[in-house]
Amino acid sequence: MAGMNENGASLDTIVALAKRRGFIYPGSEIYGGLAGVYDFGPRGIELLNNLKADWWRANVYGKENYFGLDAGMFKNPRVWDASGHTSGFSDPLAECKDCNTRIRVDKELAKIGVTADEKMTEKDLNELFDKHRKDIPCPKCGKKNFTAVRAFNLLVKSNLGDFTAAGSEPVYLPGEACQGIYLDYKNIVDTMQPKIPFGVAQIGKAFRNEISPRNYLFRTREFEQADTQLFIRPNENKDAYEAMKKDRMQWYVSLGIDPSRLRFKQHEHLAFYAKDAWDIEFDFPTLGFDEVEGIHDRSDYDLTQHMKFSGVDLRYTDPMTTEKYVPWILETSMGVGRVFLAVLSNAYTEDELGGEKRVVLKLKPSLAPVKAAVFPLLKNKPQLVDKAREIFKALKKEFGAVEFDDNGNIGKRYRRQDEIGTPFCVTIDFDTLEKGAGVTVRDRDTGKQERVGENDLIKYLSSKLA
Ligand code: GAP
Repeated sequence: MAGMNENGASLDTIVALAKRRGFIYPGSEIYGGLAGVYDFGPRGIELLNNLKADWWRANVYGKENYFGLDAGMFKNPRVWDASGHTSGFSDPLAECKDCNTRIRVDKELAKIGVTADEKMTEKDLNELFDKHRKDIPCPKCGKKNFTAVRAFNLLVKSNLGDFTAAGSEPVYLPGEACQGIYLDYKNIVDTMQPKIPFGVAQIGKAFRNEISPRNYLFRTREFEQADTQLFIRPNENKDAYEAMKKDRMQWYVSLGIDPSRLRFKQHEHLAFYAKDAWDIEFDFPTLGFDEVEGIHDRSDYDLTQHMKFSGVDLRYTDPMTTEKYVPWILETSMGVGRVFLAVLSNAYTEDELGGEKRVVLKLKPSLAPVKAAVFPLLKNKPQLVDKAREIFKALKKEFGAVEFDDNGNIGKRYRRQDEIGTPFCVTIDFDTLEKGAGVTVRDRDTGKQERVGENDLIKYLSSKLA
């Protein structure tokens, strides 16, 4: 069923597991939280880093002629004028006059089957809203007493330099991470001498003053985007765009995501910069299919705008023919938090092992936050504990993300590691010590145990974790 994990897990179940097991915490929780901000806990940061490393391998190392970048977040304020964000990056907002709840008018209209075009003016939106107000109740108090619609700009303002100067110009936190790539396009051409087509990849933070941040990691006010921008010759977009869509979908499947929970959706209404746009959607628990990544044909919009506003010639000179042109851009822009949630939801499984019910995250081993856990069979036998600590240290040196656990019976320790998706649990028992019989290695998915010689353990785990 759409919107359900195959085990029927709801989003609340995933949220509870993520909190309980140190993946995701609400931001500023001890102060009552801050809407639309989340923290990645000790297990979350490991999964997040593994996910980003996989993306980097696929999109920088796995491709010819792609370069990595990490641009500064603050930018000259003119950048956001040129990009169109100071004027065109807004959501339509109305406020309930009774309880002050703010609604996104386009989302509330969509709930009753009415589409508000992204390119609509404030006047058009008000006309459309007025026609349907009688059918739109406030999600909080249920009344239908809203203000007029106004375009609410999503850029987050900040300040730099002289904080006291009245009227000093604000700087903006990035509304989309990719602008840094356009600003450094010329530097990359000058220093790396790439031949078109070439790509630039970057993972960077974006900030949006979302009117109603909701649905957990799905719509936050601070998030990361993993972007690629492919610079191509004008009008050579069609085949490259199709190849890009295919390549990106394949990457999600390579993460172990069930293909039946992935689909493409073409945008009916295009953002101000796009000529064509497709989303990759994932079937989230409770929420159903929704966007994890946008793939956009941005034509020459971005470089033309930056050329106009900066006065700098950003045309590319073909090294063979000396022909000059403004490259077109094909973009992939993935929300890292949304994919994190997709990976977690996809991996969440409730099954039965050895007659016992359990929750297990069936994560691809390379994504798992903990690669192996080491247990002494009993915590009150110093010889077992010493040996286990020795093995733990050796594995930690090799794999980094390794945990030691001597708390409770072995069954409970397995359950805890299953819940965070640890692929292997290594137990040190009396046969390890007395017979030199090696350790037992238990496989997360099958529950099967194998004896592995102490000296072969690193090689054994390396081959399975690759
Ligand atoms: N540079 C293009 C761009 O920013 P977008 O469709 O607005 O395009 C790209 O954003 C991706 O960023 C989306 O597919 C989504 O995964 C993620 N994203 C956008 N807004 C978000 C939000 N408020 N919270 C979490 N992720 C978000």
